[in-house]
Amino acid sequence: MSMEGFRILVVDDESSQREILQGFLEKAGWEVETAGSGPEALDLLRQRSFALCLIDYRMPGMSGLELLQQIRQRYPDVTVVIITAYGSIDSAVEAMKRGAYDYLTKPIDLDELSHLITKIEERQQLLTEVRTLRAQLTERFRFDQIIGESGKMQEVLSLVARIAPSNATVLIRGESGTGKELIAKAIHYNSPRKEGPFVKVNIAALPENLLESELFGHEKGAFTGAVERRIGRFEAANHGTLFLDEIGDLPLPLQVKLLRVLQEREFERVGSNRPIKVDIRIIAATNQDLEEAIREKRFREDLYYRLNVVPIVLPPLRERREDIPPLVDFLLRKCAEQTGKGVKGISREAMDLLIRYDYPGNVRELENIIERAVLLARHDVILVEDLPLHLRTSEPEIERRPRSEKMTLPQVLEALERQMILRALEQHDYVQTRAAEELGISERVLRYKLKKHGLTVRSAEGEQQGGERP
Ligand SMILES: Nc1ncnc2c1ncn2[C@@H]1O[C@H](COP(=O)(O)OP(=O)(O)OP(=O)(O)O)[C@@H](O)[C@H]1O
Ligand SMILES: [Mg+2]
Repeated sequence: MSMEGFRILVVDDESSQREILQGFLEKAGWEVETAGSGPEALDLLRQRSFALCLIDYRMPGMSGLELLQQIRQRYPDVTVVIITAYGSIDSAVEAMKRGAYDYLTKPIDLDELSHLITKIEERQQLLTEVRTLRAQLTERFRFDQIIGESGKMQEVLSLVARIAPSNATVLIRGESGTGKELIAKAIHYNSPRKEGPFVKVNIAALPENLLESELFGHEKGAFTGAVERRIGRFEAANHGTLFLDEIGDLPLPLQVKLLRVLQEREFERVGSNRPIKVDIRIIAATNQDLEEAIREKRFREDLYYRLNVVPIVLPPLRERREDIPPLVDFLLRKCAEQTGKGVKGISREAMDLLIRYDYPGNVRELENIIERAVLLARHDVILVEDLPLHLRTSEPEIERRPRSEKMTLPQVLEALERQMILRALEQHDYVQTRAAEELGISERVLRYKLKKHGLTVRSAEGEQQGGERP
């Protein structure tokens, strides 16, 4: 099958030779034009593109060799094959030296010719492919501080690049720790609003009774405790981006208010009926199943459609394991810089374990694992022993013990309990409330069990809860 745009130019001073070649090549399905001399050939080359030139070596006026030279200089992409008289090896060698791709001797073996052209066609196809691939490679989407080599992340990043300049409302979804906030910031800092504020509201972290005034502000005396007039996050985000994190937790009455802001870009402070206009872009994020929330009437469908103008779904880390090695490198460098510890790399075995692990807490969990490993590392390379226990084996500790080492039922239960607690803590960033929730026990019971197992846990207190203040 012949390639699109693969055009051949036959250059020979003898018309009979031109006709034979043209007839044969056209019959074989190629597009052919002919020229009776070097200058005529150059004329045609100026007018349209050819993939291949078949040039007679001996021609009056401009010789085949001279024409070859001209073509090499002006049209380096054109492949040239020289046709020489039988037995004139010297001229063939000379032509090859000057950049001919190959040579054929007269009388031309037509089978050989068609074989050669097919080969050239394939080679050109390959070159074009390599070129487009290379172009795609340099066009990869890069954002500062975001690692995403996998196809899935490249899709996300190309979408981010395309929508960032607009004002479109974005809904980012993905499991915990997949990078929702990171993407929200990338959108803001790659938009025309980048000089304006990026204001984050963590809806889940704010008490319901304060949420409305936090979002919309209040007038002095609007309610008990409102001693001063206060500007809400919507106003603070004017000319910038408002990031509504955990949007699934927004109480229904506030959903109505938000819907109105989205429609009219206008709202009132609590305790006032003077409408305030704002110029903001809204990005919302959640790891909840909003469709289910809609079915259960916990989330308004109309609000969902207003928010979901540009949906961005972040894939869990276990579905893009190619990203793990570059993430490990990135996080290692970041941690080493922050801690000042000279950790330079990671052993192969440790990397293998990291690649195989499933990361229920996604990139944040990997980040925690690396931070911990950098702190523990006794060498300049991270070893398997620096990784958390639950990574080192997929089976619980009890199953790894040699059979000879019999355990009693209480011992087995004890080991299993310890294992599950450690795992829940690591997955939840050592936030005990969340770990307890995952384990289905109260925080008090968790604290008791930690003590019993002799586990000390770094405190997550002091973690900023309300998000960045404007
Ligand atoms: N692709 C990535 N490249 C580099 N770092 C990343 C990437 N994705 C996430 N991180 C890092 O992982 C951590 C968690 O990311 P982020 O806070 O954006 O996640 P999230 O989806 O908002 O999580 P949550 O649902 O728990 O709020 C951050 O420190 C972030 O910088
Ligand atoms: Mg987040």
